[in-house]
Amino acid sequence: MAQQTSNIAALIPAPKADIVVQDLGQPSAPGAGEVLIRNHAIALNPIDWKRQSWGMFIESYPAVIGADVAGTVTEVGPDVTAFKKGDRVIGFANSFTGGNKYGAHQTFTLAQAFATAKIPASLSFAEAATVPTGVSTASMALFDVLGLPLPGTSSSPSTPSKSILIWGGASTVGFFTIQIARLAGLTVFAAASPKHHAKLRSLGATEVVDYRSPTAVEDLVAAAEKAGTPITLAFDTISTAETLTATAKVLSVSSGGKALSGTSFVHTTPWPETLAVVEGIKSEQVRGEQLWGRRKDLSAWLYNDALPKWLAQGGVIPSGHRTIPGGLSGIQEGLDQLKKGVSGEKLMVEI
Ligand SMILES: NC(=O)c1ccc[n+]([C@@H]2O[C@H](COP(=O)([O-])OP(=O)(O)OC[C@H]3O[C@@H](n4cnc5c(N)ncnc54)[C@H](OP(=O)(O)O)[C@@H]3O)[C@@H](O)[C@H]2O)c1
Repeated sequence: MAQQTSNIAALIPAPKADIVVQDLGQPSAPGAGEVLIRNHAIALNPIDWKRQSWGMFIESYPAVIGADVAGTVTEVGPDVTAFKKGDRVIGFANSFTGGNKYGAHQTFTLAQAFATAKIPASLSFAEAATVPTGVSTASMALFDVLGLPLPGTSSSPSTPSKSILIWGGASTVGFFTIQIARLAGLTVFAAASPKHHAKLRSLGATEVVDYRSPTAVEDLVAAAEKAGTPITLAFDTISTAETLTATAKVLSVSSGGKALSGTSFVHTTPWPETLAVVEGIKSEQVRGEQLWGRRKDLSAWLYNDALPKWLAQGGVIPSGHRTIPGGLSGIQEGLDQLKKGVSGEKLMVEI
């Protein structure tokens, strides 16, 4: 039985409309394989403002969107044994195809158990809420698109054997990809603003260059040469025509002008129609949302197995965050700020 309590939601009432906060009544009871989370921190992502402004991944209105929650389990579905009432968890909430009850921007969110992870007592809800979309996208990029072996499995390398460039290392996705790439045994190079370099090195990046420098490409190639490892893998988390071009150039120059076999390139948004495809380099857009469908197995490994250990042991640490005041009423202000751009911080609300 769902609890007799109100579910207050920040919903988008109509296409392109501002968010309104409304009581949706009693929250839905979790079905098989689901948990109901009483959210305490809800993190915002660029896709949230894009969905609001452009109508992407919204089938009908009013719409409750958002993907990243941290809170307390209040109820579990009939067959769920891995979680119990009172567990502190994060959820990667499927508001893309699941419907409003799976949206993050509300007091109670239904999450699939395979996309829910217990969090250690050492992390606040706000710290933990910075994690889901970042680790989900990083894991899909590394272990699905690039096909790397999972850390800790017998086929994973014991010594670093490949190098990866993370262009946009200080973005949320970049921040978590650096950490998971290191756990996967990769040597990591990154491009980010100088103010973030020390932090990204502390996460395990071997070298970080200034993405605004006119010699950024040459600096990355030189750093890889110095480390004795050509860069054959890349994840451009920003994916503008400019960053895609620069990233492709690093891959191509790093391997002597001719892409080495297995050179692969992941991007976060569709390849621009006006930009020529790079010969000899396999490129593909990552789709984090596939963890709710085609790659449920990868999601279960990440959320139920790897992530709780990484968070408890510090193998993965949360990104910096800034809480927008006003609880659910602050979400519109947060999305407006995110649309203008943020620098090395995750925006969120706490309720
Ligand atoms: N396909 C998917 O499944 C998926 C999943 C998640 C996100 N995404 C998309 O991926 C993109 C990144 O998302 P996010 O949440 O990680 O973004 P974010 O955290 O909001 O990114 C902000 C950061 O990007 C950095 N940045 C901006 N322009 C840059 C450039 N030209 N080169 C290097 N760094 C640059 C900024 O650095 P400074 O301010 O320090 O300059 C800032 O720290 C968004 O477009 C998002 O919609 C896609």
